[in-house]
Amino acid sequence: MDELIKIISLDYLGDDRGGLVSLQSNQNIPFEIKRVYYLFATQEGVARGFHAHKELKQVAIALHGSCRFILDDGKQRQEIILDSPLKGLYIDNNKWREMHDFSNDCVLVVIASEHYDESDYIRDYQDFLKEVINV
Ligand code: TYD
Repeated sequence: MDELIKIISLDYLGDDRGGLVSLQSNQNIPFEIKRVYYLFATQEGVARGFHAHKELKQVAIALHGSCRFILDDGKQRQEIILDSPLKGLYIDNNKWREMHDFSNDCVLVVIASEHYDESDYIRDYQDFLKEVINV
């Protein structure tokens, strides 16, 4: 069975002055980067996501703090805590994602392969299941 949780270990380029990580298209990020967005100041008890994307691929990194990710491919659900700026979670297309348990200091950056496009979202879980059965 396919491993749902794919972690990209980001090389640490820091030195005695502090930390540094570099993200590059088609290198440690496995696609052309077209968009970057970030979630911060997430209110206590809030969960986000609850959708999949038809084409979009993403890498999520907790730059600060932590949150819990659930990925679901329609057959299995797996979860992981993102809690390090050196750990990127690769999120393929056609994967349902949920984000829970944001620490109040969490800054989650998401690197995306496409510009924002609402028509690429699948926001209904039953629609998602129909889509992945046909893949
Ligand atoms: P949404 O993707 O629903 O957030 P999440 O899945 O993290 O809970 O996005 C929330 C709102 O922000 C929605 O109205 C669309 C808008 N948005 C953009 O305009 N551009 C973007 O790059 C993103 C990710 C969202």
